[in-house]
Amino acid sequence: MGHSINASDRPNLHPTRRCLVRTAGLVAASAALTGGSATIEPQAVAADNGTVESFWGDHQGGIITPVQSHSYFAALDLETSKRDDVIKLLRGWTAAAAHMSAGQTAAPIGIDAAKPAPDTGEALDLGVARLTVTFGFGPGLFTKEGKDRYDLAARRPPALVDLPRFNGEQLIETRTGGDLSVQACADDPQVAFHAVRQLARLAYGTAKIRWAQAGYVSRPDAEATPRNLMGFKDGTSNPSVADRRAMAKFVWVGEEGPDWMKGGSYVVARRIRIALEHWDRMKVAFQEQTIGRHKYTGAPLGSKNEFDPPDLDAKDEDGNLVIPDSAHVRLGAAASNASAQILRRPYSYNDGVDFTAERWPPWRQGMEYDAGLFFVCYQRDPRTGFIKIFDNMSKYDMLNQFVTHTGGGLFACPRGAAKDEFVGQRLFETT
Ligand code: HEM
Repeated sequence: MGHSINASDRPNLHPTRRCLVRTAGLVAASAALTGGSATIEPQAVAADNGTVESFWGDHQGGIITPVQSHSYFAALDLETSKRDDVIKLLRGWTAAAAHMSAGQTAAPIGIDAAKPAPDTGEALDLGVARLTVTFGFGPGLFTKEGKDRYDLAARRPPALVDLPRFNGEQLIETRTGGDLSVQACADDPQVAFHAVRQLARLAYGTAKIRWAQAGYVSRPDAEATPRNLMGFKDGTSNPSVADRRAMAKFVWVGEEGPDWMKGGSYVVARRIRIALEHWDRMKVAFQEQTIGRHKYTGAPLGSKNEFDPPDLDAKDEDGNLVIPDSAHVRLGAAASNASAQILRRPYSYNDGVDFTAERWPPWRQGMEYDAGLFFVCYQRDPRTGFIKIFDNMSKYDMLNQFVTHTGGGLFACPRGAAKDEFVGQRLFETT
């Protein structure tokens, strides 16, 4: 006897990553019923236990979102000469990112085993894990080697500068720059990597990954400030993401625009290697002088509690500053930088070990970790944010004895997309 499936029985080929097992059964049933060629609509799915971070809205996710435990950041170079290809890519990326942020596969996975699957599958059953995907546009989208590839040169915002050279940096070209950026953050490392992997697949022929960086943050609970690999609490004096006025002042682009950036932000990423072997040989008291905070409590030098305000004027009985002149927190403080503030969102990275040459001092010979901080910060304008703060830091910070910036980039992260838009759409609109 003939049998048809009504709409509510339809299998979902755009499944939540969690409901796949159940769906797989339905797909098999459907294929059997229809001779193997079911045409099946993707189906909207309910939020996954409150762990979904909304994709659509005034701002992109992943900026003021409470920090997830894992991040995968990729910078891509555009290979196409056609503006329409870039638009098509951004449209496809937006749809895929929206699906994945809702806990679904990037695209309906289909039932045809004779074809590569449109989603690679490693995030199936893992849940949504608060995934956010944040897109950014590098200077190369607007002009590259003097060429205006996509008729966008006149639209490059003045704030999207080429980052100046900073004292002491040792940038590796293949780890620096990029025309586009994609950062996936999630409370699961594979969910984060999966998201970027699907987007990179969608980009085949249009853009390719130039560099990528995985990172993680570990902490005892969601309220606690995480410690970085130097063993110090990192993030104590960050502006609060719940403080809307501070976010409007320091993070979100305002009336200064352009329109497609209003509600957006600029991200600076820096891959910073930390000479852990060197750091680990320092007395704790010296480490504390370097940072300007106590190691175990996180309190500013001279204070007891983590959130006590640092007293930058305090002197000891010999007349020396309690928080030294070249301590990291003094150089980073708003008071030292004409009130400049940024929103830091850093992740530790740990990429194994290198074996070093004999020309290094004894403590560096043999093995050294390729580990450190993947520093990510958001700001309304990098000229008055990262560049302003880091200019002094790169010259005077005691921390510089232990860290080396080896890569990164600056990207303009457009305002969030409304449901019928793709991310960055307003940049491409001709008025
Ligand atoms: C490996 C590199 C770095 C390490 C290990 C590091 C570590 C820290 C630590 C432990 C603190 C104190 C706790 C806190 O308030 O979060 C801090 C504060 C801060 N850092 Fe870094 N940091 C690094 C790089 C940078 C860079 C490149 C910048 C660039 C602008 C920066 C900007 C700041 C700022 C603005 C503060 C807050 C200062 C204050 O207002 O007290 N840091 N950092």
